[in-house]
Amino acid sequence: MSIVETFVAMDYGSAPEDPRETLAWLDAHGRSFGHFIGGKWHKSSSAQKFETKDPSTGKVIATVTQGSVEDVDAAVRAARTALPKWQALTNNARSRFLYAIARHLQKHSRRLAVLETIDNGKPIRESRDLDIPLVVRHFYYHAGWAQILDQAFPGYVPCGVAGQIIPWNFPLLMLSWKIAPALAAGNTVVLKPAEFTPLTALAFAEICQDVGLPPGVVNIVTGDGSTGEALVKHPDVDKIAFTGSTEVGRAIRKATADGHKKLSLELGGKSPFVVFEDADLDSAVEGLVDGIWLNQGQVCCAGSRLLMQESVAAELTEKIRERMRNLRVGSPLDKSIDIGAIVAPVQLERIQKLVKQGIEEGAECWQPPCEMPATGLFFPPTLLTNFHPSSTVAQQEIFGPVVVAMTFRTHREAVELANNTTYGLAASVWSESINVALEVAAQIKAGVVWVNSTNLFDASCGFGGYRESGFGREGGREGMLEYLEPQWFKKAKALPEKKSGHATEAAEPPTVSESAIDRTVKLYIGGKQSRPDSGYSISVRDTHGKILGEAPLGNRKDIRNAVEAARKASAWGKATTHTRAQVLYYIAENLSQRTDELERRLEALVGRRQAKREVAAAIERIFSYAAWADKYDGAVHSPPLRSISIAMNESIGAVGVICPNELPLLGLLSLVLPLIAAGNTVVAIPSETYPLIIGDLYQIFETSDLPGGTVNFVSGRTSELAKTLAEHDDIDAIWCFSNARDAASVKLWSAGNLKQVFTHEGRQIDWYDANQSEGRWFLQHATQVKNVWVPYGE
Ligand code: NAI
Repeated sequence: MSIVETFVAMDYGSAPEDPRETLAWLDAHGRSFGHFIGGKWHKSSSAQKFETKDPSTGKVIATVTQGSVEDVDAAVRAARTALPKWQALTNNARSRFLYAIARHLQKHSRRLAVLETIDNGKPIRESRDLDIPLVVRHFYYHAGWAQILDQAFPGYVPCGVAGQIIPWNFPLLMLSWKIAPALAAGNTVVLKPAEFTPLTALAFAEICQDVGLPPGVVNIVTGDGSTGEALVKHPDVDKIAFTGSTEVGRAIRKATADGHKKLSLELGGKSPFVVFEDADLDSAVEGLVDGIWLNQGQVCCAGSRLLMQESVAAELTEKIRERMRNLRVGSPLDKSIDIGAIVAPVQLERIQKLVKQGIEEGAECWQPPCEMPATGLFFPPTLLTNFHPSSTVAQQEIFGPVVVAMTFRTHREAVELANNTTYGLAASVWSESINVALEVAAQIKAGVVWVNSTNLFDASCGFGGYRESGFGREGGREGMLEYLEPQWFKKAKALPEKKSGHATEAAEPPTVSESAIDRTVKLYIGGKQSRPDSGYSISVRDTHGKILGEAPLGNRKDIRNAVEAARKASAWGKATTHTRAQVLYYIAENLSQRTDELERRLEALVGRRQAKREVAAAIERIFSYAAWADKYDGAVHSPPLRSISIAMNESIGAVGVICPNELPLLGLLSLVLPLIAAGNTVVAIPSETYPLIIGDLYQIFETSDLPGGTVNFVSGRTSELAKTLAEHDDIDAIWCFSNARDAASVKLWSAGNLKQVFTHEGRQIDWYDANQSEGRWFLQHATQVKNVWVPYGE
């Protein structure tokens, strides 16, 4: 036999990892765990317990405690008690704790990797080489943020007590993504690990004890969804961070609507893996192995939708099948296997059901003839082809080792298919032409795009979704901001109860002020003035009851038309930042020329002095956002890999705006301007107090080259219009600054397509104070960060 023949004929032997040290650690804990609250283990004999099993063998590993409402309450109280002491420490002291945690994690890395593997079923190669090193890196990186917190985030303070709920697919890694930034920013935490994989979180709790972390700074409560729900609903939690299914994310959005908890959601995905004809196909195949078979495909950003350019589809499919024939499914503790066990019976059933449904709907299913273990929860690598792009398997997250493949002809079709789901978490783009790859990366709606690579992660690069993949970022500067709030905002007082509105439907014979006769304004939709669908108007009065004019009473249909116009105007987002800046300067100039007129109008409402002040401040605000338009740019990260990651501040899309009642001109512009400066289009509901202001504004917009549809105005009853706007699936984000009640309702209504919501939480904002009402805080909410990873080197 020649050397080549011998080499080809050789098979891998098994290379089992020795789990003894980990098993000894479990034994030392009596294979039974309580919660970790206030720095102590809470074991109660009467508490309900549940077992956690090794999915590759079905054997029970340990027993853990089902967290009750009382347990969650005790943990939140411990976190609250610990908060002032934790915050009183110096930045350096907090930073040192994070360094110490990182070092301890490193010292016990093998034990943690084995524990993760037996609890979750993922191959030891992955837990050892990917999960745990990334966990360690996360704590080191965030120790740095803790040290320079005041310099890096001046004027910001921690949220307070953070409630964190994590899934089972990367248990310790998700814990680190949550706990490291929270502690670095000065918060204390209560974390609930997933019911299938609680063990590494408990091992982490022990590390917190070992490094002497002050009691109560980190609390771990185990349990199922009901424990998570208790944490979400606890009134003394300031921030909720969740990673898991879109369905639960939606439930959490609703559950936190009525309150001031800051929320970040990292949800599901159906990420496209796009291969162009000029790609290095062999590299793309290796990328796909990582993209969909990492962690048995139980990865939120798995490249689960393969999009192949038609000209290379046959060749690529054959290469993929060949590669799949070599994938080894087996014991997760065996270092030479590629695919381990599925986390739990329910997840295996979900995968089986979805694949069966795909086949019933006409998909072709191909699985390599691979040896499957006799026991345990395993599913073979699977390729589905020949299905409709709208079929279940093309749209739904399967969360298993199943890739679904389709073809495209042109770049445009590739982008359309890539964006043809409700998700937007990640994407991989394969092309040897950097121009093609970056052009396509820019057009894909996803928080992360990997060029000629896949599943690259680093603590310095934000990770998180667009659309129904959630909002908020983990990692990087953006990730820190999820655990911080502007100090003035945290301290801001509640808005006083709304004074009686000035806009009323005329009931009694009005006294008409002199200037009111010609003050009939219209709605402004798609660049055109239009009458309201209702055919009704509302009278707008001054504080003495005198009629100032008539404003259109918009309804659902008007909102729908305005949303359609805003969507059609998406070219605004593609205009250069220079163009957007120029249009804003033009608006400022045109508004300046009408200063006297605007002052006169506002005078009837707020008096001469206030009117002058408001108009002057409004003009300055426009100049400011004209300045910001080409300056709020992104960053280039240098992760410790042979890659750069370009963090781009992208527009969100079509945004609904509900304006404040106070300061009808300045309030409206303070919200609309950052949005359009960042490239969004807007549907705005003006203040109910003085909606007539839109008449002046649209005349100015019309003469300032602002493309039709970029800003649309629908006046009327705020709460009614806000509901239609917040529920509309073509609205990507909603800003609500009218009152506390509307702010809570909008959060609830936005849950359908998981819009990003930005509100004043019913607090007072000083719209004259640029520190509060202008700049980065608003621009940050007007954009979403996309990280495009571009590897370099041969
Ligand atoms: P899940 O979303 O139910 O669980 C994630 C975490 O949320 C767990 O800790 C769970 O206990 C907790 N939880 C459940 N209900 C809750 C509630 N009402 N309030 C607060 N916390 C709650 O995910 P599950 O059922 O384990 O998996 C279902 C599907 O979700 C998977 O098949 C997969 O498609 C997707 N998934 C996506 C993940 C991602 O990283 N994007 C992670 C896990 C699952």
